[in-house]
Amino acid sequence: MSQADFVVVANRLPVDRDDDGGWRRSPGGLVTALEPVMRKTEGAWVGWAGKPGLELEPFDFEGTHLVPITLSADEVQNYYEGFSNDTIWPLYHDVIAAPRYRRVWWDAYVDVNRRFAEASATAAAEGATVWVQDYQLQLVPAMLRRMRPDLTIGYFHHIPFPAYGLFSQLPWRRQVIEGLLGADVVGFQRVADAGNFARAVRRQFHYTTKASGITVPLEDGSTRNVLAKAYPISIDAESYIELAQRPDIQARAKEIRESLGNPKTVMLGVDRLDYTKGIRHRLKAFGELLEDGRLSVEDATLVQVASPSRERVEAYIQLRDEIELTVGRINGDFDTMDHTAIRYLHQAFPREEMVALYLAADVMLVTALRDGMNLVAKEYVASRIDNRGVLLLSEFAGAADELGSAIRINPHDIDGMKDAIMRAVEMPGTEQGRRMRTLRRRVLDHDVSDWSKSFLEALAAAKR
Ligand code: G6P
Repeated sequence: MSQADFVVVANRLPVDRDDDGGWRRSPGGLVTALEPVMRKTEGAWVGWAGKPGLELEPFDFEGTHLVPITLSADEVQNYYEGFSNDTIWPLYHDVIAAPRYRRVWWDAYVDVNRRFAEASATAAAEGATVWVQDYQLQLVPAMLRRMRPDLTIGYFHHIPFPAYGLFSQLPWRRQVIEGLLGADVVGFQRVADAGNFARAVRRQFHYTTKASGITVPLEDGSTRNVLAKAYPISIDAESYIELAQRPDIQARAKEIRESLGNPKTVMLGVDRLDYTKGIRHRLKAFGELLEDGRLSVEDATLVQVASPSRERVEAYIQLRDEIELTVGRINGDFDTMDHTAIRYLHQAFPREEMVALYLAADVMLVTALRDGMNLVAKEYVASRIDNRGVLLLSEFAGAADELGSAIRINPHDIDGMKDAIMRAVEMPGTEQGRRMRTLRRRVLDHDVSDWSKSFLEALAAAKR
């Protein structure tokens, strides 16, 4: 079997299955970001095809060698839905939902991480670079280093890394840190995440941590350096600009506004249906503004896209019920025959429709209670080629570190959020333009190819 000089390891493969059994590239930012690198290096991608029990041989797809990992139905339950999304996800998002610590889930997580590490070890050529992605695979770096000391290993953490006081709840905290320290470079979204990780390393292992790296002692008495640093991820901004320039998409944006009854203000929320996103807080603020009479359904409509996610995990099932109850109540109280308060869509849409929505929205609401980055905020900004529209951005989203010209909000402060929404609704065009131009400069100057380039440069430097 041919081996690759560059291997990406992620929970998911970069492809989705068509209805007719064929494959198409998945729409995610990571896939777009790495596509040029994968092509140039004839790289391999190790990941799960997203269905339980699906056994597939490795295959080539658009210049990338794909190595599918099979997960049994039990493993999907224990490793993916359980440990990844019912233990690590809530714990790392500041315990917004209660993490469950179950030993059978941990055992499955260890087993599946080992399987990913073994498949990566098989796919990688001598001296190759392997880039492990995200919280589902935190043990892979150290496992892989043990199997293949010749490799250069990077890890990028797409979600927050919590403060030590929370992280220390994890019964397997030492194993997780050891797993991550198997990498040469551990990348985070925010400077604060890298700081939290370094602190956890100090508290658990007493290793020296400096800006230049963490000194990890080895059995033979020598040391290794592990760089833990922030590399904020971004989007393929140019592709959003191209879509926003398309006459058919601009026409679709107008059509969307018309079909909502041409309210003065269209507000938009776009999220995976996840308790980290602060959707309930947003609905509460909007509902109260209608109740107070500061907004009316003739003036303002909120379009809320909540794409289905992790639908078998209890916290997500509950959240969906709560959101749908709230939407029903608000619409029941305030809708008229011609106007709706909230147009709620529990669906996923193609990028074209998303850009039309971004162009149709006067106010974009990003009210996450905790979020690694929030790429929706960046997509909205990139799409606004007309330099109009207002972004409300939670200070608890990683994007807040870069997007200082957004209206910053604390989603827990409902009164503050209501005032911020009114400020956005009433913001004069000149101020919108000034803010949007600054936001756009940042997103266009730091797109996703800069992100992968700077991470991979740090990794190449670690190799020398
Ligand atoms: C977040 C995570 C990703 C994950 C995505 C979708 O962005 O950082 O690793 O792939 O959510 O979640 P899912 O569970 O459907 O892969």
